[in-house]
Amino acid sequence: MNKTIIVSNRLPLQVIIENDQIEVTPSVGGLATGLKSVHKESNGIWIGWSGITQEELTPELETKISKAVTKEQCVSVNLTQRDLDHYYYGFSNRTLWPLFHYFIEYTEYNPESWEVYKSVNQKFADTVLEQVNEGDNVWIQDYQLLLVPAMVKAKRPDISIGFFNHIPFPSYEIFRTFPKRKELLEGMLGADLIGFHTYDYERHFLSSVKRILSLDVSFNKITYDNRIIRVDSFPMGIDYEKFENAALDHNQMNEGDKSEIQKRLDQHLQNEDGIKMILSIDRMDYTKGIPNRIKAFEYFLRKYPQFQEKIRLIMLAVPSRSQVPQYQKLKQETDELVGRINGEYSTVSWTPIWYFYRALPFENLIDLYTSSDVALITPVRDGMNLVAKEYVATRTRKDGVLVLSEMAGASIEMNEALLINPFNFEEIADSIKQALEMPKAEQKQRMQALQNRVSRYSVKKWANEFMNSLDQVHKVYNVIEAEKVDENIKAIFIKKLRSDEKKIMFLDYDGTLVNFTNNPQDAKPDKELFSILEKLHAIQGLKLVLISGRDKETLNNWFGHTPYTLVSDHGVSMRIENEEWKTTERLKTEWMEDILPILETFVDRTPGTLVEKKKYSLAWHYRNTDVELAEKRLVEIKTVLTSFISNTDLTLLEGNKVIEIKSSKVNKGRACSSLLNQFPSEHVFAFGDDWTDEFMFEELPERSQTVKVGVRKTKAKYYVKTIEEVRAFLKAIAE
Ligand code: ADP
Ligand code: G6P
Repeated sequence: MNKTIIVSNRLPLQVIIENDQIEVTPSVGGLATGLKSVHKESNGIWIGWSGITQEELTPELETKISKAVTKEQCVSVNLTQRDLDHYYYGFSNRTLWPLFHYFIEYTEYNPESWEVYKSVNQKFADTVLEQVNEGDNVWIQDYQLLLVPAMVKAKRPDISIGFFNHIPFPSYEIFRTFPKRKELLEGMLGADLIGFHTYDYERHFLSSVKRILSLDVSFNKITYDNRIIRVDSFPMGIDYEKFENAALDHNQMNEGDKSEIQKRLDQHLQNEDGIKMILSIDRMDYTKGIPNRIKAFEYFLRKYPQFQEKIRLIMLAVPSRSQVPQYQKLKQETDELVGRINGEYSTVSWTPIWYFYRALPFENLIDLYTSSDVALITPVRDGMNLVAKEYVATRTRKDGVLVLSEMAGASIEMNEALLINPFNFEEIADSIKQALEMPKAEQKQRMQALQNRVSRYSVKKWANEFMNSLDQVHKVYNVIEAEKVDENIKAIFIKKLRSDEKKIMFLDYDGTLVNFTNNPQDAKPDKELFSILEKLHAIQGLKLVLISGRDKETLNNWFGHTPYTLVSDHGVSMRIENEEWKTTERLKTEWMEDILPILETFVDRTPGTLVEKKKYSLAWHYRNTDVELAEKRLVEIKTVLTSFISNTDLTLLEGNKVIEIKSSKVNKGRACSSLLNQFPSEHVFAFGDDWTDEFMFEELPERSQTVKVGVRKTKAKYYVKTIEEVRAFLKAIAE
C-alpha cells in the first residue's frame, strides 16, 4: 500500500530520558493533530529529530529510542550538538527565521552554519530515501528543511513531493538580499506542490522565482527542470472540535475538578467585581510584537485612565530558542517593561499585568481562553497564528472579542476581529476600548461569523486539501501526452532511416539544435553540431532541411556553405540543396514602417529588450530584461499590436521570450507541406521546440515521426527534455 512520509524538524513526540530509561509521549501540537489522519490512518511514517542529541545517547539508549519511536510510526534523524548549533540555532533560527519575518538586521550569515544546514538537510533526505517506496508521497514541512525537496527529487524523480512553508515568504526586495537566495529557491523547487498559508506569501515566492531564477511562471505554475511545479495557498486551521469540546467540558466543571489556575482566576474575578481580563499567549519571539503590545497597553492606561483597576492583561509567553541572543534580549526587555509598568500603575489591590514565562498544559490554556473577555494578539509578522483561532474555538458562549494584528496570516480569514496595525498604538488603545465596551449582541455576531469560518477550515481539512492537490499535480502535470523518446523509439527511427524509401527530416534551429543566448546573433552553430548534421546528411536518400524563423542572411552566413536545404523566416524564403535562394511567397513589407516605431518605444521603456528586423517580420526579444517588467510590457504590447493588426493579414507569434509580427500567409507548416509536395517522401521526421514548430507538427502527415524538445503540451508524438538529449539522439540515429 502506498504511504505518505511526513518530514519535519521535530517529531510529533516528546522523548524524555530519566535514569537511563526513556519515555515517549505523543505530542498534541497543531501539526501533529492535523496530520494524524495522513500519518496514522494511511500507515504513513513521520521523519524528524527526536529532541535528543547524539552526545546524550549511549548505544543502548539509541536502540531504545529507535524502538519506541518506531512504535509510533516515526523514524528519528540523529543530530549532533554541532548540527543543532549550526543547523537549528544557527541557520534556521539566526538566519532564515529573521529573514523570512522581515528582520533583516537580525539576519546573520555564517558560512559554516550554511554548510551544516546543507549536511543536516541531506541527513533528512537520506532518511527519506531509505524509507520511500514507489508510489509513496513525501510531505516536507517548513523552513528548517528548505533543501530537502531537491535532494529527494534528485535521487527519486518519480516520487511526488509536497512542501509546506509555515512561516511568511518575504517580498522579493527582502529575499534578494540573502547570499544563498538561489540555492534556497532551487531546494524548494524539488517539490511538485509548494504550499503557503496566504496568497501574499505565494505571490512573493513566485516573484522571487521569476526574478532570481528567471523561470517561466504562468499563473501559479512554474516550469523548471522539465517539470511543472504548482504553488498554492492553503490556510492552516486548528483541531476545532478539540478546543470546542474542551471548552464545553470546562464550562460544566464542578468546583472540585477545577485546576489551581482556574480557582485563582475565579477568586480574582469575584474579589475584583466587574474586572475584565485581556489575554495574550505566544512563544517568546520577537516576531510576536510583545514589547509593542505592552507599550500600547500602557498607552491605553494613560489615554483612558477610567479603565485603571477595571482591567488586567494576562500575558503568557512560552520560552523559545533561548540560546539565540535576540531571544535573550527580548526576554530581558519584556521583563523590564512589565516591571516598569506594574511598578508605575499598581495599586494596593490591583496589578495591571500578570506575566507568566512558561509552557502550560492544555487544560490551563483552556482555563485562560475561556476566562478572558478579550484576546490581544499583536505580532509584527506571523505566518499564520493559531492562538487567534484557538481563542475563537473556545468561546462556546459566543462572547469575547479578538483584537488581532493585520500582520498575522490569520487576519486574512478573520475579518470580524478588530484588526489593528501593531505599530499604531493609538489604534491598539482605541481597539482595546472598543473591545471592552462592545455590546454583547455585536460580540455574538462577530464571534459567530469567526467560528463558522474557523470550524470549517480545520487542520484536518487543510491536510486533506494539500494531499488531494498533491495527487492531482502529480497525475495531471506529469502525464505528458507525447511519449518520451526511449530505446524502442530510437530503433523505429533507425529502421526508417535505413530503409530504401525516400526520407525527409525537418530540424528547427534555436531551442532545438542550439541553446538560446541573450543576443540572438551569439547562437552560432558549433563543431559538434556540424558533425552531427554531416552524418545525417550522409544517410542515403535523406533530405535534410533546416527550418527556422531566422532571416535568410543569418542562415546563409552560418549554413550557406553546406548542402542542406534551408528555410528562413518561418517559410518565406527557401534554398533547396545547392540551388539559389527563392522567395516562396510575395509578401508586402510596408506595414513594418508603422509597427517598427511602436516596438522601438517598447525597447526604450524596457531596458534589455531589442527589436530584430528581418526581411519579412519584426521580432521583439525580451530574454534579457527584468522578468516582471517584461510580463507587464508583454500584456501592453499584445494589446497595442492586436488592435493594430486587426483586419490585416498579419499575425502575432509568441516564441521563447520573443514576440514576432509576420504575415499569416507563412508558417513552418505550410513550408513543410510545400517541400513535401516537391519531394514526396515515405518517411518524415521533424524536430522542434516552440510554438512556431507546432504548425509543422500539425500539418505533417500522420505517419510522420515528430519530436518536441521540452515538456509543455505539444502536437508532436514524442519528446525529449533538452537540447543535449536531441543532439545525443540525432547522433545515435545517424551512426
Ligand atoms: P508559533 O507557531 O509561531 O509558535 P502559533 O500561534 O501558530 O505560533 O502556535 C502556537 C501554539 O503554541 C498554539 O497551539 C498555542 O496553543 C501553543 N502555546 C502558546 N503558548 C503556550 C504556552 N505558554 N504553553 C503551552 N502552549 C502554548
Ligand atoms: C513555528 C515554526 C515551526 C516551529 C515552531 C516552534 O511555528 O513554523 O516550524 O516548530 O515555531 O519553534 P521551535 O523552534 O521550538 O520548533
